[in-house]
Amino acid sequence: MNAALDYARAHGEQFVDQLNDLLRIPSISTDSQYDGDVRQAAEWLRSDLERIGMPRAELMETPGHPIVYAERIEDPALPTVLIYGHYDVQPPDPLELWESPPFEPVIRDGVLYARGTADDKGQLFMHVKAIEAYLATEGALPVNLKIMLEGEEESGSTSLVPFIEQHQDLLAADTVLISDTALFAPGVPSLVYGLRGMAYVEVTLTGPNRDLHSGVYGGAVENPINALCRLIAGAHDEQHRITIPGFYDHVRDLTEEEREGYRKLPFDEADWKEEIGVEHTKTEAGYTMLEGTSARPTLDVNGIWGGYTGEGAKTVLPAKAHAKISCRLVPDQTPDEITEKLRRYFEANTPETMTLTFKNLHGGHGALIDTSAPAMQAAAKAMQGVFGREPLFTREGGSIPVVADFKRILGLDSVMMGFSLDSDAIHSPNEHFALERFHQGIEASIRFMDAYAQQTNGTAA
Ligand code: BES
Ligand code: ZN
Repeated sequence: MNAALDYARAHGEQFVDQLNDLLRIPSISTDSQYDGDVRQAAEWLRSDLERIGMPRAELMETPGHPIVYAERIEDPALPTVLIYGHYDVQPPDPLELWESPPFEPVIRDGVLYARGTADDKGQLFMHVKAIEAYLATEGALPVNLKIMLEGEEESGSTSLVPFIEQHQDLLAADTVLISDTALFAPGVPSLVYGLRGMAYVEVTLTGPNRDLHSGVYGGAVENPINALCRLIAGAHDEQHRITIPGFYDHVRDLTEEEREGYRKLPFDEADWKEEIGVEHTKTEAGYTMLEGTSARPTLDVNGIWGGYTGEGAKTVLPAKAHAKISCRLVPDQTPDEITEKLRRYFEANTPETMTLTFKNLHGGHGALIDTSAPAMQAAAKAMQGVFGREPLFTREGGSIPVVADFKRILGLDSVMMGFSLDSDAIHSPNEHFALERFHQGIEASIRFMDAYAQQTNGTAA
């Protein structure tokens, strides 16, 4: 392992140059204009995986974007690690807020700026380079390795579950390893054991059959935007609890032990607020801020539109009002259950003056992972090796729905060993990833393979 660590250190700059080539490809999965780029990013990764010594490295077609799949089976007696990552990225807009173009990576003060640096090209590439370092120095890996890279994560992973269901033998493994989450703070090693799920819907209220003059008709025709705002406002109470009937029915409460764990986290609330420019926070009554952002469910409007939004004033009583609404879920809420409860809430409260269209856009389950699993312990050892201190176990507010799917379909737990920071501006302008953390991630991946091989003592777990 030491030779692999030395190799990774000696080739650090070259690894960053390669990552820059990948970052230059605008693999925006949600916008079909970029379909060719998404495929090009997949092909780029496939070819790098082949070059570094993965005997099988191919693109596997789906109805959507291709999945990059590679494997190297050293010895059936060794444990098998399935690495998951996503090579697609979020759209970069608003473009004018980027200090340098999103697909022209640049380094400023040791930090790499480009769309996808932290989420997730930079992070998945840490594993590719860890594999390279191992193979270049030892000629073999200490574990069997499968790597599956998805191109639809940022647009709802439509093809992923059918793919996993159809390829259960191919994907059979002893653990999943994912780097698509954040460290608790810079220099503070952490492993994520909880993720939130998601229920995403679009709601439209339709009133009159066309936009109307608000002077001629206002006062007798109810305004769909006014009504939609009323429905949305009614979804929270004064305590910032969600009022959708039955919303909390299946929420697993925090244990006293977990709450104690939260209290021990080195969290600086003042810094946190300053970083995002807020003076006051709003949390569900009875819960702390960190609990609110990771262990409690939410309901947020992602976008709301209708009527006139151009320059100046136009006196219009709009025919329609639209909103995109998402709920972050926690175990054991399910996307189907919550989507149904949202539907009933909007149906029950739509005024008789209008009609409701309710669309389920996508959903995903949350997850809670047992921190005592062998792979988790191997990851803890790897983090200890990199940082010189034991990692903390944290719950994240973001969603990686495939974690629950891996458990349900393949029976596998996932280790979430991510190296970004909440402040890395993922999904925002000026997304970035400090090169130090990129290199730490490569080292952690090398150490993980070694620790997991030892942990399972050469026999499949
Ligand atoms: N990498 C993120 C998820 C994430 C973000 C985990 C922050 C932990 C901390 C992932 O790419 C993502 O953005 N996922 C979406 C999933 C959704 C579309 C179902 C999310 O969380 O919004
Ligand atoms: Zn991601």
